[in-house]
Amino acid sequence: MSRHFLTLNDLTPDELGYLIQRAIELKTMLRNGQSHEPLKGKTLGMIFEKSSTRTRVSFEVAMTQFGGASIFLSPRDTQLGRGEPIEDSARVLSRMVDAVMIRTFDHATVETFAAHSAVPVINALTDDFHPCQLLADMQTFVEHRGSIQGKKVVWVGDGNNMCASYMNAARQFDFELVISCPDGFAPDEDLLTRCTDRVSLEPDVREAVKGAHLVVTDVWASMGQEDEQQERMNAFEGFQVTPELMDLADPEALFMHCLPAHRGEEVSHEMMDDPRAVVWDEAENRLHAQKALLEFLLTGQH
Ligand code: CP
Ligand code: NVA
Repeated sequence: MSRHFLTLNDLTPDELGYLIQRAIELKTMLRNGQSHEPLKGKTLGMIFEKSSTRTRVSFEVAMTQFGGASIFLSPRDTQLGRGEPIEDSARVLSRMVDAVMIRTFDHATVETFAAHSAVPVINALTDDFHPCQLLADMQTFVEHRGSIQGKKVVWVGDGNNMCASYMNAARQFDFELVISCPDGFAPDEDLLTRCTDRVSLEPDVREAVKGAHLVVTDVWASMGQEDEQQERMNAFEGFQVTPELMDLADPEALFMHCLPAHRGEEVSHEMMDDPRAVVWDEAENRLHAQKALLEFLLTGQH
């Protein structure tokens, strides 16, 4: 039976902790010019039904550095875009490639694919979750500040896929998560109910960030919500992360954003260049964290 990575809940807290340490190790090895090719002869299939810069490049580079290969598959030029059932695509692809990475809209698509795949399936973002980004975010926090256990993390913004993955992370990495968003943009009620021990809502953003060790935001309109852009810009007025807002957080607080950022909307221009922002390390760590994930899923090393 293959292990999949559709949400953070597919791994145990111990396994996730191992991946973060391994990502840091792999980063050091790369910096030292040490070659490590555990995936020689292996191929990753990469299905993208939404745009991507970081995810595509980090997975492709990860496979190259590991001695393997990757194939970019877009619905525009595969039978996926012409209605071949997900189940059939999963059966066929998994007879040829060694793992499949999928970025799509409906989370049920990755679940259906995984249920019919003989090889590991990785969620590279759905409308509901973005677990790969959380591996990079957790690695980045650990590198800068040490363990995140018991810390206060504040999510400022929409209750979207990133927010939902932070909710899972709060339980798996054992931190407190405060979500601050306007009325009507809170995350999924079911998920909230399952996380009440670690997650709370605070609509007053200035109150929410008090004492935070990490402040995170994301675009107000995610991919697929382009039509709601103006409505969301109006609703989220006052929720921009700025250096002044960060001044209410812990003096050692960090700021993260999965990127791409809309400067001047959810984050101010100055905040992106503020010393508390670790967004470029966070982006780079997509590579190292996903290398740790690929090695774990494909070789079983842990
Ligand atoms: N953060 C992230 O997933 O970026 P891309 O959309 O560029 O892959
Ligand atoms: N919430 C954003 C994340 C992009 C990486 C989106 O889904 O578009």
